[in-house]
Amino acid sequence: MQPGHPTDIDLETAAALLKSGEVCAFPTETVYGLGAIASSSEAVLKIFETKQRPRFNPLIVHCADIDMAGTLTRFSPTASRLATLWPGPLTLVLPLRDGAEISDLVTAGLKTIGLRVPAHPLAQRLIAAVGQPLAAPSANPSGRISPTSADQVRDMFDGRVPVLDGGPCSTGLESTILAVEDEKVTQLRAGGLASAEIERHLGRAIEFAAADDAIAAPGMMKSHYAPRAALRLNAPGPEEGEAYLAFGPVRTEASNLLNLSESGDLKESARNLFAYLHALDATGMARIAVAPIPEEGLGEAINDRLRRAAAPRP
Ligand code: TXA
Ligand code: MG
Repeated sequence: MQPGHPTDIDLETAAALLKSGEVCAFPTETVYGLGAIASSSEAVLKIFETKQRPRFNPLIVHCADIDMAGTLTRFSPTASRLATLWPGPLTLVLPLRDGAEISDLVTAGLKTIGLRVPAHPLAQRLIAAVGQPLAAPSANPSGRISPTSADQVRDMFDGRVPVLDGGPCSTGLESTILAVEDEKVTQLRAGGLASAEIERHLGRAIEFAAADDAIAAPGMMKSHYAPRAALRLNAPGPEEGEAYLAFGPVRTEASNLLNLSESGDLKESARNLFAYLHALDATGMARIAVAPIPEEGLGEAINDRLRRAAAPRP
């Protein structure tokens, strides 16, 4: 891809920057990540500073494959079985291997580590080119909506972050996070892989962390993913002065209306969710009304993000 913006970089430059201990944004199939080599505290610190992220919130480490992930953890039989779902929108929180080459900042001092093998071809090529695991949270300032396009990254950081542009993200929601303790599996965050699919793959039910379980996933603050505008959920239509995020067939002819999926498709809705929230937020309307979304499949993660976006701000 030919760089068209001042902060655009190509794959070689991105790999060179990361190797030299700098940060850059890169595409994954879920959302854009802000990466740094996971072994260097100096590099990882730049992620926290760029995002203004609280230090207690650990980062997900992106690996090229299961072997690379195996340098950082030991897989239980259940973890191995879940890892066959890689590459994809799934993060496994596993025991940190003794002597693993990882900065303490990445794990926030925990004895576990969040690992993921992303499916996006550019992410895979980037990790391969760097040759080591990359720590990468979503490439947004802390508390804002995750970016699903390079443009959103440029906007949110005012061009302060070099970006490897890989087009729009195909999943559009962050990865599903599962904690695996021996054979016990607990979903810490709903995400791009529906819990029903995970249960089907495992052949048994999994557990779900309580929404306010701050210890399980330190980063899951209630008011996360916040647009500037206020949100009104489960709205059959917009009221005066509201933008509207629709789902399924709608008759309303409101201006500032975007439809997540006219056919009511949840995958399409997940892909559009953050981009449309960004776009409706950019209209400057004080409030965004949001249509009801079914609480099934990817609808669980979509509703989770919407509830957080609507929660009172600190
Ligand atoms: O799809 C994704 O997961 C994206 C892309 C870039 O991979 N990344 C992402 O990272 O969403 P971030 O930092 O925005 O969210 C990571 C979440 C946080 O809530 C953090 O607390 C949790 O993962 N996490 C990371 N390591 C953990 C650990 N060892 N134990 C519990 N939670 C962990
Ligand atoms: Mg995030």
